[in-house]
Amino acid sequence: MSEPLTLGVAGLGTVGMGLIQLLSAHATRIEKMLGRPITVTGVSARSRKKEREAALGGAQWFDDPVALAKDPSNSVFIELMGGEDGPAKAAVEAALKAKKHVVTANKALLAKHGIALAKLAESNGVALNFEAAVAGGIPIIKMLREALAANEVRRVYGILNGTCNFILSKMTDEKRAFADALKEAQEKGYAEADPTFDIGGFDAAHKLSLLTCLAFGAAVAFDEIHVEGIENITSADIEAATELGYCIKLLGVAMQTEHGIEARVTPVLVAEESALAEVSGVTNCVGIDGDFAGNLLLVGPGAGSKPTASAVASDIMDVARGLVLPPFIRPTSVLEKVKGLNLKAHQGNYYVRLKVYDRPGAMAAITKRMSDENVSLESIVQRRPGPVHPGQAAEPAPGEAEAAVNVILITHDTTEDAMRKALRAIEKDGKITERPQMIRIEDL
Ligand code: NDP
Ligand code: HSE
Repeated sequence: MSEPLTLGVAGLGTVGMGLIQLLSAHATRIEKMLGRPITVTGVSARSRKKEREAALGGAQWFDDPVALAKDPSNSVFIELMGGEDGPAKAAVEAALKAKKHVVTANKALLAKHGIALAKLAESNGVALNFEAAVAGGIPIIKMLREALAANEVRRVYGILNGTCNFILSKMTDEKRAFADALKEAQEKGYAEADPTFDIGGFDAAHKLSLLTCLAFGAAVAFDEIHVEGIENITSADIEAATELGYCIKLLGVAMQTEHGIEARVTPVLVAEESALAEVSGVTNCVGIDGDFAGNLLLVGPGAGSKPTASAVASDIMDVARGLVLPPFIRPTSVLEKVKGLNLKAHQGNYYVRLKVYDRPGAMAAITKRMSDENVSLESIVQRRPGPVHPGQAAEPAPGEAEAAVNVILITHDTTEDAMRKALRAIEKDGKITERPQMIRIEDL
């Protein structure tokens, strides 16, 4: 039997402890497969005193993750702390400079510094593996790096954030409140340390920037991606979408267009019979349109201790087998620096919800603004009157605030630019009580 593969694991939270448990549960199987055992020789976390879900064996404790990354007692550094800078970046850099292979689940770090870290890995002849960084347990990085490497990818898209999909599913299926569903996602270990990354769409955008780089060889800066989160999705939108035969999802889409690459993360409406509508709870899915392979859709758990640990372990096993591939499939020198496409050119159908004062002429003014921009409407639904302010009765008493109604518009095919202009004009007219809600309808 050969020498063990020695690991230094920094981060003993949801993912780190999942990995420790997996390596212990499957130690014998993994050793048989690889012909060598995997041993955790060093660990680091913030608090040494914290109770952990599993024993850490004889692993040496390091207060400083950078010291662990440099320590010669381990040959592979596993970064599971999180954070786009700080100790995660310092430790990963230190490990790569020490010619150690690195495995990380940290999409925030990679979205910001991935190309620079890949260059460092390349120049030191070591691996930088990050299967767990995108879509949890779904082996999407391996799929793009290996199985589909010979294809020209035209589009990559998906439900890339488990927390958001969990919240939207709970709001739709169980009529749960947003805050309540988010709390449960946090308790289950799905959410980021700062859940704003999830609900603001940034975590999905981190993942989309990695997929864009892998799929198109394009180094799209994370802040070039158009990002909208789900924090403004209300139960009124969920109800209206359901009644109209749609389902609301947070979707990341990157595609080659005649104007360049379009990359965006936004809530979208998908038809209830679409495969994406079936993807509920913490489940993620990633679709890839390859020129030779055709259209693929991978579905699986997008977050959580076990699925993420499974992805981290597969990266470690690749290292144990001596597989060292360029992190972004091709050498960093051939990655093209591109700018994300401005969404003004985006074309499609739109859902709009307006809270309109219940007074004569309001609807006529709205439809005029739409027609001024050549936006043609497929349907208009006026829902029962509701109060302008929460807690007020629907029918105002004399002198009280005016009642308002939710009006739902579905447009025919139009452009983002036309929609934005029409909605700006509607806002200026003063016939609505709050900012319009606009959600793109995705034909997937
Ligand atoms: P947790 O918050 O559960 O765990 C973070 C761990 O890192 C804790 O053990 C913490 O120590 C340790 N840590 C934090 N800061 C430091 C520091 N400065 N020095 C040393 N240790 C530190 O996070 P997760 O396990 O959920 O996430 C880890 C990474 O995996 C993140 O990059 C995340 O984005 C990514 N990820 C998470 C998934 C999930 O489902 N949770 C899925 C896919 C990726 P202590 O325990 O003492 O507080
Ligand atoms: N917070 C992330 C999610 C973890 O909910 O998808 C997995 O990357």
